[in-house]
Amino acid sequence: MLAASSETLVEKHARYVLSPWIAQKGARPPVIVRAHGSTLVDADGKEYIDLTAGLVAVNLGHGHAGLAAAIGEQAGRVAFSPPAWGNDRRAELAERLVHLVGWPNGGRAFFTTGGADALDDAAKILRLATGRPKILTAYRSFHGSSAGASSMTGESRRWPAEPGMPGVVHFLAPYPYRSPFSTTDPHEETKRALEHLELILSYEDAERIAAIVLEPIVGSNGIIVYPDGYLAGVRKICDKHGIALVFDEVMTGFGRTGAAFAAHRFGVMPDVIAFAKGVTSAYVPLGGLLLREEIAGYFDDHVLWAGHTYSGHPVAMAAGVATLDAYRDENVFEKGLALEGPLRDGLERLARAHRSIGEVRGVGAFFAIELVKDRKTREPVVPWQGKDTGVMATFNKSLRERGAWVLTRYNFAAIAPPLTIEKGELERGFEALDGALGDLEKALG
Ligand SMILES: Cc1ncc(COP(=O)(O)O)c(C=O)c1O
Repeated sequence: MLAASSETLVEKHARYVLSPWIAQKGARPPVIVRAHGSTLVDADGKEYIDLTAGLVAVNLGHGHAGLAAAIGEQAGRVAFSPPAWGNDRRAELAERLVHLVGWPNGGRAFFTTGGADALDDAAKILRLATGRPKILTAYRSFHGSSAGASSMTGESRRWPAEPGMPGVVHFLAPYPYRSPFSTTDPHEETKRALEHLELILSYEDAERIAAIVLEPIVGSNGIIVYPDGYLAGVRKICDKHGIALVFDEVMTGFGRTGAAFAAHRFGVMPDVIAFAKGVTSAYVPLGGLLLREEIAGYFDDHVLWAGHTYSGHPVAMAAGVATLDAYRDENVFEKGLALEGPLRDGLERLARAHRSIGEVRGVGAFFAIELVKDRKTREPVVPWQGKDTGVMATFNKSLRERGAWVLTRYNFAAIAPPLTIEKGELERGFEALDGALGDLEKALG
């Protein structure tokens, strides 16, 4: 069979596929037909270094033969069984995930198809388990595109879903580079942010709050690492008021921060972890919730009013087990930690060469560069949630032409490659970034 030409594929894609989060006209992204390691290959054979692990998801890298074989084996053995009946791989994956978290009294897993439905179900489950109606989430957060998760989201991707799910209240969380609390001192930032959270609780009635849902590192809103003490402070506030703490670890889980979960990296244990992406290294759609036993046990005597056709889909379960095997056998979380130095050094080197980099931040293999017109005033190259004047389009086009995939939103770029990225691939990625930053600065004038 003759492969379709790249041009034909690009046109067919544009003609028939509605692509997410963009106006469709004029969009002609490359059509990826193969991938290996940290490299994506389009229909013309052009290679792109995957500097954002797909969407911060392909932690293991592309083309992992063992994982692909496990998925194939399961599809041939049993591709589907009723979700309410048992499945060998489901039991195994749930046990492995609960042990990975390490709550003293254990816990249980509830499986979904992705991150958004996991967050929707977290709201429902915690409302049931606590008997309380409200959910608190941060501004500058993203929790998914489904109805409930959109409502929990604290930025522009929520707006088209409004009026959304009632009972969601937002609060401001720390952002040291652009403090919402008018301080440049990270300790003050933590202190003021916690006081603000207590204030919100007093106005909302803490006893009516079921859960506080938080990304332990803000993901697609700028990879913002909270200052020391913030997560521990939120944990304390939750304990004081009997509120469940949910970490949305859809991006931060499975080695991204150099630990199994960001909860471990920061030494703060939530009551519930929402996960997706890295659980199967994105080879098969899978998400879910890990619930501390004290919460999961509520459903021993009460109906768990949640479920999906694909809850615990056997192929996804097999992919999850094989992914965890690979993470363990190939020391992938340690590789994530070992990337922290090279990523920070490489990005700081770029910052010395490029005036448009206002800040380099991140931990593990989860970094951002925030792009500014002027380092002193910190004016962003594109206003947050504002319209691109063309500079970010130039930056993205240049990255693509230079052979790199980097997720960007407004004025930041996410540098979060597969945890298995090789030195040469990373160097090629940095070269592309270097060139694209030069083009962005020319566009800025
Ligand atoms: C922190 C976070 N939560 C939830 C989601 C939604 O996950 P999904 O796209 O699998 O629905 C995302 C997606 O990027 C995410 O980054």
